[in-house]
Amino acid sequence: MYPIQRNRRLRSSASLRALVQEHQLTPNDFIVPLFVVEGTQIKEAIPSMPGYHRWSTDLLAQKVKTLWAAGLKAVLLFVKVPDALKDNQGTEALNPDGLMQRAIQTVKNAVPEMVVMTDVALDPYSSYGHDGIVQEGKIVNDATVAILTKMALSHATAGADVVAPSDMMDGRILSIRKGLEEAHFTNTVIMSYSAKYASSFYGPFRDALDSSPGFGDKKTYQMDFANRNEALIETQRDIEEGADIVMVKPGLAYLDIIRDLRETIAVPIAAYQVSGEYAMLKAAAEKGWLDHDAVMMEQLISFKRAGVQLIASYFAEDAVKLL
Ligand code: PBG
Repeated sequence: MYPIQRNRRLRSSASLRALVQEHQLTPNDFIVPLFVVEGTQIKEAIPSMPGYHRWSTDLLAQKVKTLWAAGLKAVLLFVKVPDALKDNQGTEALNPDGLMQRAIQTVKNAVPEMVVMTDVALDPYSSYGHDGIVQEGKIVNDATVAILTKMALSHATAGADVVAPSDMMDGRILSIRKGLEEAHFTNTVIMSYSAKYASSFYGPFRDALDSSPGFGDKKTYQMDFANRNEALIETQRDIEEGADIVMVKPGLAYLDIIRDLRETIAVPIAAYQVSGEYAMLKAAAEKGWLDHDAVMMEQLISFKRAGVQLIASYFAEDAVKLL
């Protein structure tokens, strides 16, 4: 009761504030998404993601050395696949010499200690831009799961430490886990995009990979953003099926979901601060309407406060420079 308690006492100096601060960011909090393209000496700007690039594998090697030197310990790889290699089955995703497989090897050769995470979904390989196989205008579940399982195995064979299915098919975690175990990849981690919403915040990412759906939307597999309980169902099932890390995506608009999960489950939770969130801040900062670095750090801390262990963020490299 006032004046016995004064809430402002513990805020009265910078040192006191530091002592009682509840959450901090460290380089160990981050996963760095990286976009990879064919070719050499390519560093391609992505217009809707200012400051972010697509890298050819030779430059990717240098990039991961820089990230490692900054203290970052995990990268999440995405590939931009040439149109000629796209089909309905995602055939190219299983090519042992495909771009993803070479990118994994490149990172592992450049910095063996770097944790290599890979996106497992068909969209960058799909002529329809969907995360699964299309039949009669529908995205079919079980046939897709079979291919995703082979894809995850192919990534593990190439050296991936963590496979990250982002497709939202039912049963893919169990199938991938069984596949990995049977092939003796007993230590391959599965980071499941468990609560992944059908979101319009993914627009810039789809520009980056040229992976927009050719027809319709992703609402029959990604979650309805009006739903909260469903996130718990999805996530609990993924854990039962063998996920080691679960993810909520997008990030900022879904902090309530992160908090719900944190109070209910014990496995590590990751947030994905997605491309549209990155683009919004970049655009506002370019106009001089927001203080880029201050807002970035405020947003990143909010994920920790909500309860995550890991943040996949396009801001990772900028943020660690400020720590
Ligand atoms: C593909 C995938 C998407 C993202 C990550 N993996 C796009 C989508 O589901 O359409 C989005 C990431 C971002 O927007 O930063 N399955």
